[in-house]
Amino acid sequence: MLRHFLRDDDLSPAEQLEVLDLADELKKQPFRDTLAGPRAVAVLFEKNSTRTRFSFEVGIAQLGGHPVVVDGRSMQLGREETIEDTARVLSRYVDVVVWRTFAQARIDSLASVSSVPVVNALTDEFHPCQILADLQTVRERKGTLAGLTLTYLGDAGNNMAHSLLLGGVTAGLHVRVAAPEGFHPAPWLLDTVAKRAAETGGSATVLTDPHAAVDGADVVTTDAWTSMGQENDGKDRVGPFRPYQVNTELLGRTGKDTVVLHDLPAHRGQEITDEVLDGPASAVWDEAENRLHAQKALLVWLLERR
Ligand code: CP
Ligand code: NVA
Repeated sequence: MLRHFLRDDDLSPAEQLEVLDLADELKKQPFRDTLAGPRAVAVLFEKNSTRTRFSFEVGIAQLGGHPVVVDGRSMQLGREETIEDTARVLSRYVDVVVWRTFAQARIDSLASVSSVPVVNALTDEFHPCQILADLQTVRERKGTLAGLTLTYLGDAGNNMAHSLLLGGVTAGLHVRVAAPEGFHPAPWLLDTVAKRAAETGGSATVLTDPHAAVDGADVVTTDAWTSMGQENDGKDRVGPFRPYQVNTELLGRTGKDTVVLHDLPAHRGQEITDEVLDGPASAVWDEAENRLHAQKALLVWLLERR
């Protein structure tokens, strides 16, 4: 059966675990002939990228495949060709389509007519590939996932917060997000997260107090205060978000041996300080590396299970 990975809950809890186990295997043994031929994978970007671009391109090559990496704005899609017609054509050339775009509705449209798996490489609403890498990293550091508390500080209405909530409760985490009023997750998302949490024993909590949010946290993570596409929306973020900065003082309040994550790119001195990012609690470079392993695992899972 054709499967896509458009949101974190496109994998069941058991399936997410299969992908994470496979990611650990591929980290030890990187080469596999899943895409030998070579079979091609389209990797399309309508927003900037460093990690996602390199990790997919390298990962596809390590699976024996041929990555076709294209700036989406240079495609006919950037003129008048529809998303659906683009999907119909790409499905005739490639075995997977990976897309970084704006509204989730765009990737949903692509997937609705694609005859090959579609993978979300970040939309305005979700960043599910990043969360697979984050979970792999947490498990490496903590030895387990279910039952841990992960706190996210920053824009809790953005793609990272949504995916950490949905992917985190899928793994049985207790996910707390803390943000100023006006930057909280969408109610529809919280309903979906609550249903998934009820299956796994995880939980989701939305707070405004950053100190209460980090108390007892096993993992603290953050993200850009201004996401791609929000640069000119006229909202003041620096003032409201300042109390949510991940710094040494705030980290000291967890009362635990906390692991710090950041999906990167970091805005040093804004959402996170140099001292924390470069300090002993930081797992951010492993996290970035794990994008490679986790996404390869996802591709293998999508292609070999069919
Ligand atoms: N974390 C992440 O997705 O990084 P890029 O924007 O560089 O791909
Ligand atoms: N929330 C950020 C994530 C970047 C990887 C953005 O969308 O710009």
